[in-house]
Amino acid sequence: MEFFEVLRKRRSIRRFRDKPVPRELIEKLLEAAFLLPSSYNRRPWHFIVVDDREKLEALSRAKLGASGLKTAPLAIVVAADESRSDVWVEDASIAAEHIQLAAFDLGLASFWVQIRNRMHNETKTAEEYVRGLLGIPKNYRVLCIVGIGYPAENKPPHGDEVFEWEKVSHNEFGKRFK
Ligand SMILES: Cc1cc2nc3c(=O)[nH]c(=O)nc-3n(C[C@H](O)[C@H](O)[C@H](O)COP(=O)(O)O)c2cc1C
Repeated sequence: MEFFEVLRKRRSIRRFRDKPVPRELIEKLLEAAFLLPSSYNRRPWHFIVVDDREKLEALSRAKLGASGLKTAPLAIVVAADESRSDVWVEDASIAAEHIQLAAFDLGLASFWVQIRNRMHNETKTAEEYVRGLLGIPKNYRVLCIVGIGYPAENKPPHGDEVFEWEKVSHNEFGKRFK
């Protein structure tokens, strides 16, 4: 698929068919994540591939807005070693987005579940919850979970309304570019 078609057509999908994602596609998604830029090329990330139904169920309870993981056959948890990079959030965000775009290109659908800075309940952070569930070491921070699978819902592609030219300045803030 043409790159701009992928960008236009990728939408967040939160309901999935009961069909596993083949191993070779999972590997492709991870290759897409590895093919990315990172600050000082430190590559601080770590990805946890989750296809265990009980663990996916448990991840769907990580916080409000994670329930789409109930039907997802696959989740990739995006973590990073914060002792290796002070800009791990940026590095890990790029990884998550590469996974989402690659998923769409491969005929899959996905959605992002924010974990960093979110609460599981009144006392526990979503990060602590996910870390406990998957045995993630303390120096690794958890940015997000990308839920992935074959779509069970359809969404229209993005139209030209997303092109917010009023948010683009030319040479000086507030001077319109277009
Ligand atoms: C940083 C970030 C955090 C997000 N967190 C969640 C989330 O916790 N749960 C969820 O269902 N969607 C989440 N999303 C998906 C957005 O809601 C979605 O991308 C947005 O509504 C635009 O829709 P689209 O992806 O279909 O273009 C998140 C997206 C980003 C980039």
